Amino acid sequence: MNFIEHLNKYYPDDLVEKLIKELKKERTSSLILNTQKIDNIFFKNEFPEIENHPFLKNVYYFDKKIYELGKNYLFDNGAYYIMDASSMLVSYFLNPKDNDLILDMCAAPGGKTIFASLNNKNIRIIANDLSHSRALTLSSNIEKLGLKNVIVINFNFLNDQRILNKTFDKIILDAPCSGSAMFRKLEEMQDDWTYEKVLNCQKIQFDLLNRAIDLLKDGGELIYSTCSFSYEENEENILNLLKTRNDIELTNLPSIKGDYRHPSLKEAIHVFPTFYKGEGQFIAKIKKKGELINNSKNILSNEKEIKNYKDIISLYNLDFASYKKINNELYGSSFEFDNKKIPLVRYGVNIGEFKKNYFLPSFNLAHYLSNKNSIILNEKEAKKYIKGETIIKNLPLKDGYYIVSFKNINLGYIKYVKGILKNLYPKGLRH
Ligand SMILES: C[S@@+](CC[C@H](N)C(=O)[O-])C[C@H]1O[C@@H](n2cnc3c(N)ncnc32)[C@H](O)[C@@H]1O
Repeated sequence: MNFIEHLNKYYPDDLVEKLIKELKKERTSSLILNTQKIDNIFFKNEFPEIENHPFLKNVYYFDKKIYELGKNYLFDNGAYYIMDASSMLVSYFLNPKDNDLILDMCAAPGGKTIFASLNNKNIRIIANDLSHSRALTLSSNIEKLGLKNVIVINFNFLNDQRILNKTFDKIILDAPCSGSAMFRKLEEMQDDWTYEKVLNCQKIQFDLLNRAIDLLKDGGELIYSTCSFSYEENEENILNLLKTRNDIELTNLPSIKGDYRHPSLKEAIHVFPTFYKGEGQFIAKIKKKGELINNSKNILSNEKEIKNYKDIISLYNLDFASYKKINNELYGSSFEFDNKKIPLVRYGVNIGEFKKNYFLPSFNLAHYLSNKNSIILNEKEAKKYIKGETIIKNLPLKDGYYIVSFKNINLGYIKYVKGILKNLYPKGLRH
């Protein structure tokens, strides 16, 4: 069976025809603004030809041929995150509330976590990925955006069926899938796609779905999504889950313009590139039966750690609820998470590193802190800074570490020594 025959099995012919036509076109580009760093007015002034998303807050479509938004200082410094507008709907439908403890079970490179975190600073997100290298990419995306309510872990929940059961208020399961809804070139699609791959993915997804339900508190909610067009990975998985478990029920997702509902599972939606500006996405929402008790007592400050680092906390005016030292690096998070069996990759914001005789603030801390006390650079100086050059500027300052900013965006740290701004911009970002 080839890919088109496969689609024809479950979708009406005219829909498949339109879809195949659409997949031959260029994909659209979109982003979400990090309004902790940049506001909508500033952004629209800088890039007047961007287009507002019809209903997602702080989300814009842009034309890659007009603006290379993946290559500029705003992107490097986490002023926005570029992601597909359909995949944003996953966290939009999750609809998290203050204090929710959320697990993003397959989180790398981080789109769903980032969208949720930017929309609600008072939620607590544990972002996980099985692959260590992908968890590191996830971690560096969190770092750029300066998010303090995200803790990154690297774990396979399928290997331990008991750990953290009934812990989370909400779970995002954006499952590994055959990826057909992300293909844009028909030829590529036909080369890569096999039905066997679909069936292998279906099995892993079903195991992850069952595990996710166990990890949910009673009354908790799960959003399941894939970027596959295949019925087996989507509706069939959910229908099988409903048949085999009696502790869950399906939630009817509210309509959005251009959604498609398969007659066998009308509560879940597909967005297809034909009717919605974005790639393909399947989304279903499941509720675990019972009454939800939101025990926000997890938001404790770990007093002992706070005592240990009180000088650093007061020097940088830090306000984290929880601090943790991992190797020689100090991290701060808006909530506490501690489980000896689960490897931590990042704990909110990387504050800095303990060197032999001093503490070196991290580039990440500059992304997190406000630009209130920063040294403001002009355009010429900012260009020099991004190239990694030293800047001479006599200022009435004591020698030490300071943040430099340009147009209200923190660029990073410098070490001020007698009128010389020694450049600490990371070597990998210099250009
Ligand atoms: C579709 S991608 C996730 C995309 C991500 N949610 C985002 O928005 O950027 C699926 C991810 O699942 C991860 N994965 C596969 N099996 C897993 C498992 N058993 N546990 C956790 N993650 C897994 C893969 O490494 C991959 O990064």
